[in-house]
Amino acid sequence: MDVGYQRRVGATFREVINGLKRNSLAAAADLGVSVETIDDIIAGKCRLTSELIARAAAIWPVNERDFFPVHDDAADGAIVMRAVESEKTSRTFARGGIDYYEYRDTAMSRLAMFRPEWIKMLHSVPGTDQDDPTVQWNSGHFLYQFTYFIGAVNYYYSAEGRRYCAAMETGDSVSGLPYAPHSFACRDGAPGMILALTYGGRLLGDAAHELGALGESLAERYAFDASGPHASGSLLGVQLDNTGFTREWLARSAGIPLAHLEDLLAGVATAGWEELGTLAEAMRINVRDLLPVVPDTHHGVSILRRRDVPRWPYPDGDSPHYVIGALAGTRVCPSSRGLEIEVRGTDASRGMLRTGLHQYCYVLGSEPVRLTWTYDERTCSRELAPGDSLYLKPFVSHSFTSCDRPGRILALRIGGKVAGDAWLEAAAIGGSSLRRLTYDTAQWYEEAGTTARREIL
Ligand SMILES: [Fe+2]
Repeated sequence: MDVGYQRRVGATFREVINGLKRNSLAAAADLGVSVETIDDIIAGKCRLTSELIARAAAIWPVNERDFFPVHDDAADGAIVMRAVESEKTSRTFARGGIDYYEYRDTAMSRLAMFRPEWIKMLHSVPGTDQDDPTVQWNSGHFLYQFTYFIGAVNYYYSAEGRRYCAAMETGDSVSGLPYAPHSFACRDGAPGMILALTYGGRLLGDAAHELGALGESLAERYAFDASGPHASGSLLGVQLDNTGFTREWLARSAGIPLAHLEDLLAGVATAGWEELGTLAEAMRINVRDLLPVVPDTHHGVSILRRRDVPRWPYPDGDSPHYVIGALAGTRVCPSSRGLEIEVRGTDASRGMLRTGLHQYCYVLGSEPVRLTWTYDERTCSRELAPGDSLYLKPFVSHSFTSCDRPGRILALRIGGKVAGDAWLEAAAIGGSSLRRLTYDTAQWYEEAGTTARREIL
């Protein structure tokens, strides 16, 4: 298990009391313990008990969960799950009185919210009737779902009260939004399975807890008209409300006629690039804060057929090490990238890959591949058989190489909590601040006192 966890408990505790502007002595007095106990907790020498957390949550405006760091269960930078280990997690669930799906876990980590399942369809239907009464639907779920199809599988989904059925084949993929009801069945007696890679978006975790605590009526207020023809005007209105400006003050600050601003807010006029820049500057926001998501799903899903997958050679077109294909995805979740990677090369140094996203991979087909990765200045290598899967931490340099014949990898990259705006914020505060926040046990001031000084060389 994670040896650094206890140390991070200490740093997390320090961050909480620093935020509350309590030094060790003041925190000890509030919690009714000795200052030595507080200092030992911060140093990772003493366990933070559930009683102390309960007392802290009772007297301070904090939540119990604020004291719990995340576990690092990928000490080598990667987690490999063998196909035989996946088989041991097999569960068969009946729906409507018949065995419907067999589920098997594949590689997961506590560091990233992937829930990737190997799922075999146990129910076969004739044809593609979207109203087939033997098809068992779910109610939809909060996690996003990227699905890769193997065999002849019907994909059922519904939107605005209508049901749809898409006849999927090997290599087709689908990206689905949260809470969209769906189902699967194999077709005409042929075998069929899917890799159902569910994952959490940016609303998972802290954001979901915040919405839950705010309650239904306040939570739904976040859903401004984000995808219709008035999306730009709605988003401008959201930003205007946040600034506290009046419409008149914004029009004056941006140097645009009030009547035109009214049209922009109503969505009957569209701001050009230069005008967006002027409005953003007047509100001290970035132009990107005025750009809504461009919708690209149809009936809540994005379906991509194998024949339509764009593929490119990597790292170049001259005897490529890989041929990479971009599978289904959506701009709603732009950090999520589904890739099919054909592994041709045998020289690991030519195929080095790196991404700041968390990554899940599954070995497709019948050929093994070799994974080589470097983490913490150590290089590791594993041969991966078909059906093996893995998780890789962000920024870990890695390479796949073929063994006897070209292999195929299904990869899903997702943003963790440091994605999108959070990633830009991380870049803005800088590398030294990011290093400090990973393990910061220092009080926010020094008891002995310091004065600003300039080192003179
Ligand atoms: Fe699902």
